[in-house]
Amino acid sequence: MSKESKTYKNMPKKIYIRTFGCQMNVRDSEVIAGLLKTNNYELTANSNEAGVIIFNTCSVRQHAEDKVWSEIGRVSKSQSVKVSGKPIIGVVGCMANNYREAIFERSPQVDFVVGTADIHMIPGIIKKMLASTENRVQRIELFERKIWETDGEVRPEEIYHTGFHLDCEHAFVVISEGCENYCSYCVVPYVRGKLRSRNYADILDEIKEDIDAGIKKITLLGQNVNAYQFGVGSSGFGVKKFVDLLEMVNRVNGLEEFSFVTSHPKGTSEELFRAMAEYAKLKKYLHLPVQSGSDRILKLMNRGYGRKFYLDLAHIYRTIVKDGALTTDIIVGFPSETEQDFQDTYDLVQEIGFNAAYIFKYSPRPNTEALKFADDVTKTEKERRHSLILELQKKMSKDKK
Ligand code: SAH
Ligand code: SF4
Ligand code: F3S
Repeated sequence: MSKESKTYKNMPKKIYIRTFGCQMNVRDSEVIAGLLKTNNYELTANSNEAGVIIFNTCSVRQHAEDKVWSEIGRVSKSQSVKVSGKPIIGVVGCMANNYREAIFERSPQVDFVVGTADIHMIPGIIKKMLASTENRVQRIELFERKIWETDGEVRPEEIYHTGFHLDCEHAFVVISEGCENYCSYCVVPYVRGKLRSRNYADILDEIKEDIDAGIKKITLLGQNVNAYQFGVGSSGFGVKKFVDLLEMVNRVNGLEEFSFVTSHPKGTSEELFRAMAEYAKLKKYLHLPVQSGSDRILKLMNRGYGRKFYLDLAHIYRTIVKDGALTTDIIVGFPSETEQDFQDTYDLVQEIGFNAAYIFKYSPRPNTEALKFADDVTKTEKERRHSLILELQKKMSKDKK
């Protein structure tokens, strides 16, 4: 056995997972960790002692991707690499679907790529990878093995039941995967696929398992939870919608509190607000992204509602759900956004008085419809608009306290 392959064999096989992006990704990383633990892999919170590093990635804005590219570069150059050899690097999640095997060209240090609907394959892929690195000389000199799986469409139900949670009191529970709203700026439908709602019986089983494990609070997750629908039948009999699911979750014994993200204004109804007011365990909290206060921009964004619709919805929410919190997302600098369009958004923020607002600068994304429009609001102007709304929101959040 050569000296070099010995070094590689002695390399720690612990796995480190780094998560970028939204709560869906946080939950997916738990799922991956749970699957790895079930397969007897050891996890570590220290990337320096890891033999395998998994980046669970986000593609929503350019900046999110840039962070991942630079982290890949950083870990491949880190001190421990010099001592114990290069760790196996995997890119999973939304960037895996966005770039597929092209990731290997951009970042040759990456060894495997696994898409959002293929995460159940990760333990098997790591096993293959580790087997192929047993003889490092062969690996480096004869071929550099790369594996990618990005074509999956359905996640096996079992992956949600490994019982692994980062927080021992609160758990995220995925109720639907994917999105087919196709907002013109958004990459999510392309990286997460079509909307799939999980069976409500499976969701309830998962929640009961969580409670048996000591969890007290739950957040239901979906890109657009209002679109949840499970069941068949032309009469509609037996079909469960989002509000039905909330009713069932509210009845789960042992659950203390639950909430949900994210709602799309298009599918948000008075019926939902009544459920929020009525169900004792349901948190009086609604995250309702508005994106823009300008009708013209909302139309270009393909959001399916206008300024007045949103204002009315916010008003109805506050009338029905007394003292309910309302938060939002806003994009500034969407293609062709004029000073007047921006002012419309600014005024809307002022008029509504959100409890919190997350403000983003428009970032052109591959595949999206908005890519056809020129990204014509300058960087400086995007920054100006971003900080103006940020300042306004800060002031309003302070006033609300
Ligand atoms: N499904 C959720 C979350 C989508 S991503 C929803 O519909 O609300 C979270 C937020 O990122 C979006 O609400 C939007 O404000 C922002 N975002 C999405 N794509 C973007 C882009 N291309 N540039 C800037 N912000 C974007
Ligand atoms: Fe993206 Fe729109 Fe779907 Fe949200 S609703 S994930 S913004 S396409
Ligand atoms: Fe990012 Fe994917 Fe979530 S693109 S915001 S991690 S669904």
